[in-house]
Amino acid sequence: MDRDGGVIPAAVVGIFPYAGTPEQDLQLGQCAAAWQEGQQPFWSLSETQSMLAGDSCRAFFAATSEDAQWHGVVLVEVTAEWSDLLYLYVPQAHRRNGIARLLLLHLLERARGELPSPAVILEVRPSNLAAWSLYLSLGFVEVGRRKAYYSNGEDALVLKHLGYEVPWVRR
Ligand SMILES: CC(C)(COP(=O)(O)OP(=O)(O)OC[C@H]1O[C@@H](n2cnc3c(N)ncnc32)[C@H](O)[C@@H]1OP(=O)(O)O)[C@@H](O)C(=O)NCCC(=O)NCCS
Repeated sequence: MDRDGGVIPAAVVGIFPYAGTPEQDLQLGQCAAAWQEGQQPFWSLSETQSMLAGDSCRAFFAATSEDAQWHGVVLVEVTAEWSDLLYLYVPQAHRRNGIARLLLLHLLERARGELPSPAVILEVRPSNLAAWSLYLSLGFVEVGRRKAYYSNGEDALVLKHLGYEVPWVRR
């Protein structure tokens, strides 16, 4: 939502790479705090910063401008074979507004244009219907299942996008 409580249209949101500025780290800390809540806790701020300090990890943020509050983030590890999607997160207040779709389309375009491989791979819980629906709507296909992958014993579905055919979707 914007400062007046209205929903920000995805059309005015841009995608910006993480560059480690103090303002970005402040916001990354807010994301990391939110990641610790609920049933799917994620990395802490220091763990996330360590990962981003390496050459292979990239993060892209959705915001109305480079310095504005972020509305979503995607983290990937880039290898010669594919980009491995480590995490995708949109704060509750900004959900169902096309932000995650924008982030993934940006990632797929980057993968096709400048990354070593156009392919993108990820794991998702079968119970995460929001994420699963999103990935399928963008052309990801199930290529495997990791048994009892998550700490609660839940399997992980392995999904892959070959990157060659990005479907047309409303942006
Ligand atoms: C999954 C998540 C990233 C989706 O973000 P979002 O910005 O709300 O998603 P979008 O608005 O771009 O949705 C795009 C499509 O995904 C699907 N989708 C998204 N949320 C959904 C939901 N709650 N239920 C069903 N389908 C959903 C729909 O097909 C949707 O298209 P539509 O709105 O035209 O119907 C967000 O819910 C989130 O951050 N969840 C917690 C973290 C997480 O689970 N991350 C993914 C696992 S790594």
